[in-house]
Amino acid sequence: MSSASLASSPVQAASQQFEVRPFAANVGAEIVGLDLSRPLNDADFARVHRAHLDYHVVVFRDQQITPQQQIDFSRRFGVLQIHVLKQFLLANHPEILIVSNIVENGQPLGLGDAGKYWHSDLSYKELPSLGSMLYAQELPSEGGDTLFANMHLAWDTLPEHLRKAVEGRSAVHSYTSRYRDGHNAQNWRPTLTPEQLAQVVVVSHPIVRTHPENGRKALFVSEGFTTHIVGLPEDESQQILNELYAHSVRPEGVYRHKWAHNDMVFWDNRSLIHLAGGTSDHLRRRLHRTTIQGDAPF
Ligand code: SIN
Repeated sequence: MSSASLASSPVQAASQQFEVRPFAANVGAEIVGLDLSRPLNDADFARVHRAHLDYHVVVFRDQQITPQQQIDFSRRFGVLQIHVLKQFLLANHPEILIVSNIVENGQPLGLGDAGKYWHSDLSYKELPSLGSMLYAQELPSEGGDTLFANMHLAWDTLPEHLRKAVEGRSAVHSYTSRYRDGHNAQNWRPTLTPEQLAQVVVVSHPIVRTHPENGRKALFVSEGFTTHIVGLPEDESQQILNELYAHSVRPEGVYRHKWAHNDMVFWDNRSLIHLAGGTSDHLRRRLHRTTIQGDAPF
């Protein structure tokens, strides 16, 4: 049983009238009419949980919530993970990572290159993330979209030669790969202390994982954090990974989220990879992320 289904509201609040409207793409739905500043009763929570499992990313429109309310709602799905870059955690709310391209007085306000490469949040941990919630605070007048790719579809449609190449194999995920090969050219990521390095030792996970709640298989590799396939020569591993990456983000499995003010987006890191589409340096973008811990992939 998942941690989400075990969690329950301390108060049985009144039911809210809301709609779940799936997008036309193979991924995503919007949830309209639900007010996350009010406690959700168990039936409403179960509908949201179901939508999250079915559509993999849900967009809550028109939310006016405090950092604590975002944290409380996120906690109903599981334990929250604290990002290793303490510099970018919201003051008094370390459960919230600030994602932002804003630099004030020479200091970055948040993690400016979060999501620059396709990835699944915290796949470099023994217990990667179940899901993440990203709440818009300040949005640019153009750009700043977030893209989501359906990794169940990627597995279901994977060509036979790639299935054979990866079934039963594992791949290594490394947080510090973000610091190599010019990936940190803009210096968004501060140098890690020995204590921070100890929190992000490399891990390996199955390349094909089974979602613990919906039972479906999904590819679980990404250009963001996967470095190589265990037991294969470097060139062969890289060639297979490149094919997997290209296949994963084919347009039919991708939803592009164009942010509206007061959107909160909640995605499933076990089913999707995601990418920040990019924002021009002269435009300001700031969002608050909570990250929910998941199970060890199997
Ligand atoms: C992230 O990868 O968590 C951030 C995505 C975004 O900024 O659009």
